[in-house]
Amino acid sequence: MKIAVIGTGYVGLVTGTCFADSGNHVTCVDVDRAKIEMLGRGEVPIYEPGLAEMVQHNQAADRLGFTTDLAAAISDAEIIFLAVGTPQGNNGAADLAALWVVVDGIAPHLRDDAIVITKSTVPVGTSAKMFARLKELTGREVDVASNPEFLKEGSAIDDFIRPDRIVVGVRRQAVSDKLLELYKPFLRTEHPFLSMSPESAELTKYVANALLSTKISFINEMANLCERMGGDINDVRRGIGHDSRIGFAFLFPGVGYGGSCFPKDVRALVQMATALGVAPRLLQAIDDVNETQKRVMIDKIGAHFGGRLAGKRVAVWGLAFKPRTDDIREAPALVLIDWLLEQGVEVRVHDPEAMANVQAQYGDKLTYCRKLMDALDGADALAIMTEWGDYQRPDFAEMVNRMRSPVVFDGRNLYSPERMQSHGFTYHSIGRPAVG
Ligand SMILES: NC(=O)c1ccc[n+]([C@@H]2O[C@H](COP(=O)([O-])OP(=O)(O)OC[C@H]3O[C@@H](n4cnc5c(N)ncnc54)[C@H](O)[C@@H]3O)[C@@H](O)[C@H]2O)c1
Repeated sequence: MKIAVIGTGYVGLVTGTCFADSGNHVTCVDVDRAKIEMLGRGEVPIYEPGLAEMVQHNQAADRLGFTTDLAAAISDAEIIFLAVGTPQGNNGAADLAALWVVVDGIAPHLRDDAIVITKSTVPVGTSAKMFARLKELTGREVDVASNPEFLKEGSAIDDFIRPDRIVVGVRRQAVSDKLLELYKPFLRTEHPFLSMSPESAELTKYVANALLSTKISFINEMANLCERMGGDINDVRRGIGHDSRIGFAFLFPGVGYGGSCFPKDVRALVQMATALGVAPRLLQAIDDVNETQKRVMIDKIGAHFGGRLAGKRVAVWGLAFKPRTDDIREAPALVLIDWLLEQGVEVRVHDPEAMANVQAQYGDKLTYCRKLMDALDGADALAIMTEWGDYQRPDFAEMVNRMRSPVVFDGRNLYSPERMQSHGFTYHSIGRPAVG
């Protein structure tokens, strides 16, 4: 099939590349000229494991191209995916400015039989509004479908190739059939292809992210209770997780969720509910708990140093909002870094992939260390904010030697408190007793 993907970010680039890899002809479009030029040279502007090799392979096979020329890209495309950003706008609602620019931009160039599909996460009712807008602009009833994306940064290719399910929201069976044909190579494991109305498909994406965010905020609140009550959240997790109604997935306490999806999608759902006169009490609480949790390390570090931090040196391991990505959007590490800088702390940072993005934002306010141990030199404390594999088994003796005082604030519960105590650390983690 001939496919155009508009918006070549984390979702658009993975989508376009995976469809090319299954034998389709794909043109990816973006307004960011520098990004398109890089991709044209076979360079991938984001870190996503396995993506660069796959882009280069499909480029060489002439199945994958990149352009800023929207009209040229879509004039012979049967299927057009919209994967532009839908960031948080006013009052928490999703900002659809980029989406409407694209809808207006494609209208004059659409093939008669083109199907326009939204992969971006968009408020319920957007497909219907796009249909109306395209009818106004073209005089035709263009097929518009919703196809929410559930990939996770860090395992995006695997998620795309082996999805748990595909959800499409369509008005006509023929559109569903065409999408099933397109997705067949990815559904060999018999995972379901679920066809529903565009409204249900649009809502499915928000409900999925709201539920995942609920689990995180829930376990974080329980972890905070554990600390006050003298319990250990790891034991409690085991105690509940073996219940088959509960399970273990997504119930890891930490420093709050970040990223480009959960925070903005929960807030967008709050805004949608409020606009309909429905009080989003639980949804609002999920966001409130998370905002508080993003400051949990601030509270612990502040308490440890009695508020006297000026002139101290603190190392931060992990800047990305989660491991295996360079994405720092809404990353909890940045909330901590901003506060440390406000306190007059000298901050030394390490991250295996996200350092360039952080440097673009913070410039010379931070010291960037390519080796994780270098970040510890002379440090009064270490804060661990992302659970990269690199941090799982460090040389504890070297850590103690490098630091001025061996104090670790572990926001991801990577180590055993007993072991840390035996190495001479003062060790604070989440939902477990502090030691040292
Ligand atoms: N990142 C994820 O893990 C993820 C997962 C599922 C769904 N989503 C959703 O997918 C959408 C895209 O997310 P993302 O993380 O890929 O965003 P992104 O910011 O990485 O990429 C968006 C791209 O769209 C481009 N763009 C903006 N305006 C454009 C225009 N007029 N024409 C062409 N290109 C334009 C931008 O330059 C950028 O490259 C969002 O709605 C998001 O909520 C994201």
